[in-house]
Amino acid sequence: MPGPGIELVGAEEIAEVLEVMNSGFLSRYGPSDDPRFLAKTHRLEEEVAAMTGVRHALALSGGGSAALWIALLALGVGAGDEVIVPGFTFVASISSIVYTGATPVLAEVDDTFDLDPADVEARITPRTRAIVAVHMLGAPARLDELKAVADRHGIPIVEDCCQAFGATYKGRGIGSIGAIGAFSFNEYKTITCGDGGMIVTDDDELYERCFAMHDQGHAPYRLESRYAPRPFLGMNFRMTELPSAVLLAQLRKIDRIRTHLHENKAIVRDMLEEVPDIGFRTLTDPDGEIATHLVTVLPTAEIATAVAADVGAITLDQSGWHVYSKMNHLIERRTVTGKGYPFDVPAGDHPVPDYGLGALPRTDALLARSISIGIGIRDPNLAAFGIRMRDGEAEARACAATYRDAVIRNLR
Ligand SMILES: Cc1ncc(COP(=O)(O)O)c(C=O)c1O
Repeated sequence: MPGPGIELVGAEEIAEVLEVMNSGFLSRYGPSDDPRFLAKTHRLEEEVAAMTGVRHALALSGGGSAALWIALLALGVGAGDEVIVPGFTFVASISSIVYTGATPVLAEVDDTFDLDPADVEARITPRTRAIVAVHMLGAPARLDELKAVADRHGIPIVEDCCQAFGATYKGRGIGSIGAIGAFSFNEYKTITCGDGGMIVTDDDELYERCFAMHDQGHAPYRLESRYAPRPFLGMNFRMTELPSAVLLAQLRKIDRIRTHLHENKAIVRDMLEEVPDIGFRTLTDPDGEIATHLVTVLPTAEIATAVAADVGAITLDQSGWHVYSKMNHLIERRTVTGKGYPFDVPAGDHPVPDYGLGALPRTDALLARSISIGIGIRDPNLAAFGIRMRDGEAEARACAATYRDAVIRNLR
């Protein structure tokens, strides 16, 4: 039971699903003049667009991974280009770049555990075509500073919002600040339908390109499956009505999720603040984050490793495919075909960076002394220790006490 949304699946989701089953329409397309067709996918898109504060949202069956891939393609990213991405992120932020043919250029994270804007700027070259700003562990990246860097160089930002659905940055929905944003609805995420994704953008042309890519080149706004002008060849990542129905019910629970996670996180953090040796992640917008994680920073990697072992957690440098140095397929440059850009390039063209441990020394050092306490998520690769969505004050206090005592024991 990994994320907060899945813990709350109940009568509302079941009712939504039954409505769809009784309607007889399972595809996102149906006859607009037939009242039995409920157009749940279309409604979901409208509600997410409104929540995010953008004109367009596009639901996808292919998860956050497809959302990122299609967003990059729609921006025109392709073979020979470079895309800057943090070295601390789920591997899909990087593989979506690889499968456009562009070269992922890893950048350091700073004390926000999100992209370091100065390091991003230092890595920009004439080939840089996009910056993927990941809002890791529920908290927005330094979007103002990243936007300033991106604008200076005329490069678009793709917001990878997969781990932070429902978060805001200075009053604006995440995904609305860059050129385009991507959400995930897998079961570890804020709300879920098992698997699924969403693109958000305010840019009409980008939306049309994403829509066409997700449905065989078709044009948007179709409720019915009619032919429409096809600007280019597309694929099929169409969302269907059943997962959309589940997500509509989940979406109505977002305020409850956000409020409860913030309350629980405050309890745990207040108790840990009694120990001066425990540091915390810098939050760009403490009220805007979704609060699924409390990231603690300990004085040394040795102490962090001992505390992690004590409570059954992991230090973040051990977080599987969330840290570049553990992505063996990336380090060994393995793609499904082994052919073509970005790893199989003509001699003398575009060198491939070394993605092995040590490529990002500041990220390595920070992650090695950091542990995330799950507040609404239990994930063996990110937050193996913590509390859950349905836990209340007693469990939050018990969790904080266990962690605090483990730190005190290991400081001696
Ligand atoms: C930061 C980040 N980006 C992208 C993805 C990919 O999302 P999905 O699993 O829905 O394809 C995830 C999911 O784990 C993620 O955490």
